[in-house]
Amino acid sequence: MSTLTVEESDAETTYPLWRDILREGRAVPRLEDPAGTFHLAARVDGTVVGVVRFSPAPCPWRPEARAPWQLRGMATDAAVRGAGTGRALITEGLARVAAHGGDLVWCDARVPALGFYERMGFAAVTEEFDKPEGGPHRGMLIDLPPRGGSRSS
Ligand SMILES: CC(C)(COP(=O)(O)OP(=O)(O)OC[C@H]1O[C@@H](n2cnc3c(N)ncnc32)[C@H](O)[C@@H]1OP(=O)(O)O)[C@@H](O)C(=O)NCCC(=O)NCCS
Repeated sequence: MSTLTVEESDAETTYPLWRDILREGRAVPRLEDPAGTFHLAARVDGTVVGVVRFSPAPCPWRPEARAPWQLRGMATDAAVRGAGTGRALITEGLARVAAHGGDLVWCDARVPALGFYERMGFAAVTEEFDKPEGGPHRGMLIDLPPRGGSRSS
């Protein structure tokens, strides 16, 4: 039986799937990672089937956020979509951001992926805007619970 794993990875390992899905196979360079960035790779039987990266970055729509992080480069192999790979990457990524003390994660979401991010708890906070890569997008974000959970006292 095939098992899905999600582990911290690196820019080199996650690049091919990012390029194939989000740049349609064009060998364009990726923007440099800001300090603190981490990459995640989802694998089935050793093959990378999903990627994403998270970086500390100010949120354009929530400037008062204390410790905002940006999600970028979210992609899963078309052959595995709908089977929980994207969810596994987001779940692991949000847990790691929270462990780093992050209080919010935001992204420029491609419009066809809005429903996915909504399922993951993100909310759209902007109108549609165009980006040179990927067409129409909307800004989305999710607030993370304070570390240690909420207390009533
Ligand atoms: C968007 C994407 C990452 C989703 O990955 P995935 O592996 O299919 O996601 P999952 O299988 O974990 O889906 C989790 C849930 O979201 C739902 N979902 C997935 N894609 C969705 C979409 N585009 N619209 C609405 N719901 C969606 C799934 O049905 C599932 O629902 P459930 O909670 O009932 O189980 C993938 O479709 C993809 O790589 N798309 C192309 C690249 C892209 O647009 N990336 C985002 C750039 S901002």
